[in-house]
Amino acid sequence: MIKELVTTVSEIPTPDVIVQQIIATASNPNTSAKELEKVISMDVGLSTKILRLVNSAYYGLPRKVTKLSEAIVIIGFKTVRNLALSVFTYSALHFKQTFVDHDKLWAHFMLTAVFSEQIGKSIGFMNREELFLAGMLHDVGKLAIDLIFPTYFYELTKVSQNTNMPVYDVEMRINSEPHTEVGAELLRFWKFPEEYIQSALLHERPSINPNSPYIEMACIVHLANVFANIFLPGASLSYGEPYLDPIVFNILGVKPSRLSYLIKELDKVYEKSRDMIFGGVEDETRV
Ligand SMILES: [Fe+2]
Ligand SMILES: [Fe+2]
Repeated sequence: MIKELVTTVSEIPTPDVIVQQIIATASNPNTSAKELEKVISMDVGLSTKILRLVNSAYYGLPRKVTKLSEAIVIIGFKTVRNLALSVFTYSALHFKQTFVDHDKLWAHFMLTAVFSEQIGKSIGFMNREELFLAGMLHDVGKLAIDLIFPTYFYELTKVSQNTNMPVYDVEMRINSEPHTEVGAELLRFWKFPEEYIQSALLHERPSINPNSPYIEMACIVHLANVFANIFLPGASLSYGEPYLDPIVFNILGVKPSRLSYLIKELDKVYEKSRDMIFGGVEDETRV
């Protein structure tokens, strides 16, 4: 069972104390911006990387922000928290080199995050900041499988490419544990709140559990994931036509005819977020 290995093997990175505290703020509505700032400030490297993301074109700030406290005031503490956890995800993605391109996965994670946030905005979803994080984390199961069984994961992506069948379909066909379940287990291990776990679990087929209390969020992440695969084919290391679960139209109250309008909005967001998608978080000079 891959799921069981997630919590036991050294191939999987574990959040350090600072990241653990930041994750804890995600489930505690009483956390103050000051507390978050105090935690993040303990790690200078982390603050610098967060500020790089804050200053990306996506947030469209009129001038460069150089202080964490300023960033929290301008873009909000939940967004700063999301960026801190994105930095952690980026470092988890670069924890170990394997046979697949982790920069591609980062591009897919980030694009799904910004698309989730935009779809939430378009349909008037209340907790938009949570969507960014749910989108960022939806496919961490792929990373976990890759870190534990790199040869198997590489083969899985090759089969997907050669047969033009999405990775999830291949997983189902060969009766192997899907990355959705592995990802949910990893997020549970990392102590993320239930809504992110559910989104990872349901993002390929939200209709598996229409009664989930987080079905709306899972449907948004599902839709964002479909569009991320259309905008950047192969970045998710999954190939073939992505499956669009019809449950999203009911749950989100979106008419299929509205999708073309949504695509136009996503296109604008894609352009604005290119530096975050392709630049990573490490180096100021990379674009
Ligand atoms: Fe997936
Ligand atoms: Fe994905």
